[in-house]
Amino acid sequence: MPRSGKSILAAADLLAVDDIHTYYGDSYVLQGLSLGVPSGTIVALLGRNGMGKTTLIRSVAGLTPPRRGRITFRGRDVVGLAPYRIAQLGIALVPQGRRTFPSLTVRENLQIPQSALAGLGARGRVERWSLSEVVREFPQIGDRLGQRARNLSGGEQQMLAIGRALMANPDLILMDEPSEGLAPVIVQQLGAIMRRLRSQGHSILLVEQNVGLAMEVADYVYVITTGRVTCAGTPAELEAQPDLMARHLGIE
Ligand SMILES: Nc1ncnc2c1ncn2[C@@H]1O[C@H](COP(=O)(O)OP(=O)(O)OP(=O)(O)O)[C@@H](O)[C@H]1O
Ligand SMILES: [Mg+2]
Repeated sequence: MPRSGKSILAAADLLAVDDIHTYYGDSYVLQGLSLGVPSGTIVALLGRNGMGKTTLIRSVAGLTPPRRGRITFRGRDVVGLAPYRIAQLGIALVPQGRRTFPSLTVRENLQIPQSALAGLGARGRVERWSLSEVVREFPQIGDRLGQRARNLSGGEQQMLAIGRALMANPDLILMDEPSEGLAPVIVQQLGAIMRRLRSQGHSILLVEQNVGLAMEVADYVYVITTGRVTCAGTPAELEAQPDLMARHLGIE
């Protein structure tokens, strides 16, 4: 049997989401969801459309805080903190649909986090990422710093969105369906980027509908159905339960 998720929660020194309940007005979306991200890991969250994946991301980032439950980041309670405070603590968001600024240049898009976080007080962590480091990591966008973001391909926009998140020097990167709408070869590149970021000490909470990508890169996988975790385990544990995966994700 896949573990219930309790065992990884105990090891979740970086992010621990404990029994959260999140609403949009009267609409009750996350109905007691718990998950954990240990340092230096990629944790994937799978689920069909409308199951609450983005709502979980929004809950962690402070955009739609839960009404009940706890979210701790490195042991610190973050529920109720403003999104910029949560960003300052070391959580960066790569939003669904990329959300780059189309009329700004690639360079301007990359500089947004540093200008937004400037003067808000040091976090006391190593400032590893700079424009030149991001360009070294993503040479395709480095060649296009002066161009407007709207002229980039979907894959390049995704690299830009990830590069922008890195500019805030996060410990934890929340990625919401980064593979959406990308060609298989670009999805492979994305997987390689995530593994490289993990080897550099970043942790990733990856929301995906691309089961193959999640199984390939994640250390641990949660599946959610209508706002609750319905199964969880390592990719090997879940692959050994194809019936469960079929039931919760509608795949063969
Ligand atoms: N701003 C909002 N106001 C009201 N209801 C919302 C809002 N955003 C999302 N919902 C509803 O909350 C539920 C969960 O939505 P959510 O965006 O978290 O799903 P998701 O798993 O990310 O789906 P997808 O894979 O399509 O991105 C859905 O029923 C959705 O209609
Ligand atoms: Mg979503």
